[in-house]
Amino acid sequence: MNKDQDRERARELTEELHYHNFRYYIKDDPVISDAEYDRMLRELQELEEEFPELRTPDSPTQRVGAPPLDAFETVTHRQQMLSLANAFDVEEIRGFDERVKRGLETEEDVEYVCEPKLDGLAVELVYEDGVFVQGSTRGDGTTGEDITQNLRTIPYIPLKLRNDQLDLPPLLEVRGEVYMEEEDFEHLNEQRLEAGEQPFANPRNCAAGSLRQLDPNVTAGRNLKIYCYERGVIEGKSFGSHWEFLETIPKWGFRTNPLARRCSSIEEAIEFYEGLESRRNDLGYEIDGIVIKVNDYALRDELGVRSRSPRWAVAGKFKAQQEVTVIEDIEASVGRTGAVTPVAHLKPVNIGGVTVSRATLHNQDEIDRKDVRIGDTVVAQRAGDVIPEVVKVILEKRPENTEPYHLPEECPVCGGHVAKVEDEAIHRCQNISCPAQVKGHLKHFASKAAMDIDGLGVKLVEQLFDEEFIQDPADLYHLAKDDLVELERMAEKSAQNLLDAIDASRETTLARFLYALGIRNVGEHLARVLEREFGSLDALRTASLDELESVNEVGPIVAESIYNFFDEEQNRELIRKLLDANIAIETPEAEASDDTFADKTIVFTGAMEHFTRSDAKKLAERLGGRATSSVSGNTDFVVAGENAGSKLDKAQEIGVTVLTEQEFIDMLPEECRP
Ligand code: IVH
Repeated sequence: MNKDQDRERARELTEELHYHNFRYYIKDDPVISDAEYDRMLRELQELEEEFPELRTPDSPTQRVGAPPLDAFETVTHRQQMLSLANAFDVEEIRGFDERVKRGLETEEDVEYVCEPKLDGLAVELVYEDGVFVQGSTRGDGTTGEDITQNLRTIPYIPLKLRNDQLDLPPLLEVRGEVYMEEEDFEHLNEQRLEAGEQPFANPRNCAAGSLRQLDPNVTAGRNLKIYCYERGVIEGKSFGSHWEFLETIPKWGFRTNPLARRCSSIEEAIEFYEGLESRRNDLGYEIDGIVIKVNDYALRDELGVRSRSPRWAVAGKFKAQQEVTVIEDIEASVGRTGAVTPVAHLKPVNIGGVTVSRATLHNQDEIDRKDVRIGDTVVAQRAGDVIPEVVKVILEKRPENTEPYHLPEECPVCGGHVAKVEDEAIHRCQNISCPAQVKGHLKHFASKAAMDIDGLGVKLVEQLFDEEFIQDPADLYHLAKDDLVELERMAEKSAQNLLDAIDASRETTLARFLYALGIRNVGEHLARVLEREFGSLDALRTASLDELESVNEVGPIVAESIYNFFDEEQNRELIRKLLDANIAIETPEAEASDDTFADKTIVFTGAMEHFTRSDAKKLAERLGGRATSSVSGNTDFVVAGENAGSKLDKAQEIGVTVLTEQEFIDMLPEECRP
C-alpha cells in the first residue's frame, strides 16, 4: 500500500471505531464482536506506529497511553459552573416552587425536568468542531483542573462527536457527573485489600481519586462512567429548553440518564422524588437526591442566578443514610454456626428515619483495617434492608487512652475456644454444644421459612432452652402442656396453641425440612433445588459427593458441606430422633411434575397487585424456576409491576422478555393463580 492508501485506511478505521464505540458505550447495543473491534483497533495502532502523523488527538487509539503529568494545569471555565441550593424534604421542595412562581410572577404550574443527583465528580467537556479538546473539574466553579488526559480514558466520553443526524456546533460545552458503579467499586476495593492497599471509603471518593490521578493509565483501569446533564457555552446551535437539550445530545454521542423525567408541576416532581428515594438502593450507583430544574430556558433567564447557585434549580436531597455517632461498647455475638461477630453498641442515632443502636463490625480483619475502638466517634451507615454498619472512624475525635479491640479468645457464651479458620475472615466458637449455637439452631429450626412453628419466637426458644425443656429440635415434639404452663407468662391457652403449632409442623415438605436442619450453605433456594433433584431424604443422605456435585447450582464447597453433614453421627442421630417423632415429610413428586419455569431465571421488579415480591419468588421457585434480583444476559423473564425502574430499563435494553403481572399469572398452573 502506498501512503495515500494507508492514510485512507486509517481514516476509515477511525470512523468505524468511533461508530462502534458509540454503539457499545452509548447505545449499549454493539453490532460487532469484541474480537473484531480489537482487530480493527490493532490495525489502526500499527498504521499510526508507522506513520505518526496519522495519530490525531481524536483517534480511538488515544484513550490510553498518555504519559503521566507532573501536575494539573488550571482551566478557567468560560461560564461559571454553579452549585445547587438544597431542599431537604417535600415542604422545602414546595418552597422552591413557590419562589420560582413568585420570581416569574405566575400562579400557573411550572414545567420542571427532574434528574437523579449522582454522587460523583462534576466535569466539563469542551468540543471544538466535534473534537474533544479539553476536560476539567469544577474546582471552585470559576477555575478547575485540566484532566483532559484522564477523561479521554473513559470510553463513555466521546472523543469525536457524531454528525450523522445533526450538524455539529463549532463550540460545545457539556457538563456531567463522572461516577463509579457500586459493583465496580466493591470489586476494586477487594483487589486493593488483596494487594494490601488502603480501600476507598465510598464510590464518590473513588471516582474523584481516580480522576485526579497524574497517571492516566490508573484512571483507565477504573471503569468510570459519565452521565451528562447540563450545558456550558454553546455556539452555533440554540435550544429552547433543557428537555430539548437532553434529547439532542445523545445524537452527538453523549450519555444521558434514562431516568430523567419531564414533570408538568411540582407535585409530579415530588412524586418522582419520593419514588426514586424508595428505589435508590436498586440503581447500581449512588445518588443522594434529585435535581429539579426549570425546563424552559427563557424562564431560567428570567429567574437568573444568585452568587453561586441558580434560582431555577434545586437539589432535593434524600434522607442521609450515614450519620455520626459514638461506639459505647463492642459485643462479640455468637451465631448458630458458631461465628463470633463483633457488634458495635452505638449511642442511638436516627439514620434515614430509623433509630439505630447496633451496627455490625463484620469481623476482626475489618476492625483492624478500620481500627475501630470503644469510645470512637464513627460514621454509621444504613442502606435499605442491609444491616447497619460502621463505615469509618473519625480519628480526630478519638478520646485518649483507647485500646485496639480484639475479639475474645474464649466464647463469651460458653467459654469454649474461639479460633479463626485459615482462609476465612470469621472467628468461630469451636464447641458445637455451645448454647449460643444450640439456641441459634433451635430458632432457625422453628422459623417461618423452616418448620414454621407459629408462636415459637426467639424469646420462647431461649426460655425453653434455659429451663432445660429442650436441647435439640427433636425435643420440641415431646413437650407436654404441664411443662409449658410452668413457664413464666405462659397461660394454658397459649400453651395449647403452641403445642398445636408444633403438631401442625410435623407435616412438612422436604425443602423446609432440609432448610430447617441448618446445613451450612443450604439456604431456602438450594433446599428447594435439592428437593427437586433428589425427591426424598433417603436419596439425598446417601448421595455421593459426585452425585451431589452433578446437580446444577451445587459446587464443590456446597457438595462437601451437604456430604459432611450427613456423614456426622450427631446429625444422623438428630434426624433419627425427628423421624421418630412422627415428622411426615411430604415427597414432592406431585409438585415437581409442574415445571412451568424449569431452569428459567426470573426477576420480579416493581409492585404487584396480587403478590408480594417474596411470595411471587417462592411461587416461581416452586414451579422449578430461579428467582434472582438482578437482570443480566442469563435472565429469561422480568416480571414488571407498578413503578418498575432500572431493572425494567435494563431488561428492555438487553432484550430480556418482559411480562406484566397478568401475563405472569396467565403462565401459572390453574391451582397457583391468585
Ligand atoms: S446540575 C446549576 N444535574 O450536584 C446546575 N448537577 O451541587 C448545576 N450533580 O456540582 C448542576 N447530578 O456535581 C446537576 N443531574 C444533575 C446532577 C448534578 C449531580 C452534582 C454536580 C454539581 C452538584 C450541585
